[in-house]
Amino acid sequence: KEIKIFSPATIANLSCGFDVLGLCLDNIGDEMIIRKSDEKGIRITKIFGADLPLEAEKNVAGVAALAMLNHWQTDFGFDIEIYKNIKAGSGIGSSAASSAGAVFGINELLGRPFETKDLVQFAMQGEKLASGSAHADNVAPALLGGFTLIRSYDPLDIIKINSPSELYATVIHPQIELKTSDARSVLKQNITLKSAIVQWGNVGGLIAGLYTNDYDLIGRSLHDEIVEPLRSVLIPGFDQVKNTAIHNGALGAGISGSGPSIFALSRGKETAENVALAMSKVFDEMKLPYEIHVSQI
Ligand code: HSE
Repeated sequence: KEIKIFSPATIANLSCGFDVLGLCLDNIGDEMIIRKSDEKGIRITKIFGADLPLEAEKNVAGVAALAMLNHWQTDFGFDIEIYKNIKAGSGIGSSAASSAGAVFGINELLGRPFETKDLVQFAMQGEKLASGSAHADNVAPALLGGFTLIRSYDPLDIIKINSPSELYATVIHPQIELKTSDARSVLKQNITLKSAIVQWGNVGGLIAGLYTNDYDLIGRSLHDEIVEPLRSVLIPGFDQVKNTAIHNGALGAGISGSGPSIFALSRGKETAENVALAMSKVFDEMKLPYEIHVSQI
């Protein structure tokens, strides 16, 4: 028995929601083939498109799958083949796609003993290996689709958030690698009450905007004064790309996950495509190679 799955890229944080908000990009992602095997345990048999460790204990997909099998013992095992399209260190959830894909596929082959939401805790172990922190804001949307909110980590409480049908994401990836662990190491461990007030106002505003199809409110809420100022200096041309996106009709823009990708949200496909063109021009002028995608959410 085997299963072939598509494991999507994701945008985490969405400006104001560091470590708690994320959304799924269903037209960019990796493919994985998972096969049941008579041999117990997890084996990563092949990885195409990236130079990543094959040992299960050192591979995010392997670690996530092993965490799952700790909770669901079997007298057989699984072989995993990974076809990477999402580059490591791109800011669109490369490690999350592998971790989420592994546990999703194995759950299917086992006849779904776990609900999809319950797979998040296992996939988070892959994130812990990749970045040193078991954040769930990429694996939750990769598993559940659409927008997700991590209302609480302890206990884990994941909420699927409605979003308007005309909402599109544009994501541009300058071809440099930024490790999540490095992008986390520049953050401060304490914030002021004043910043916290601004931030939770915006998180509430963004969720309210998504539920009421209030595009202006979504745009006003896509603001981050805690993480973005510290990380944006690591991304060449960030301010210019962000301002250009907004100037060309995007509702708002910011760092995708831990960067270096930059995302913008727009109302309608045409606007999202115009925004893509405008963002591309900035990197063209800087002679910085990039990849760009437009996705409906
Ligand atoms: N919330 C995580 C971070 C996402 O910003 O570090 C990493 O993709």
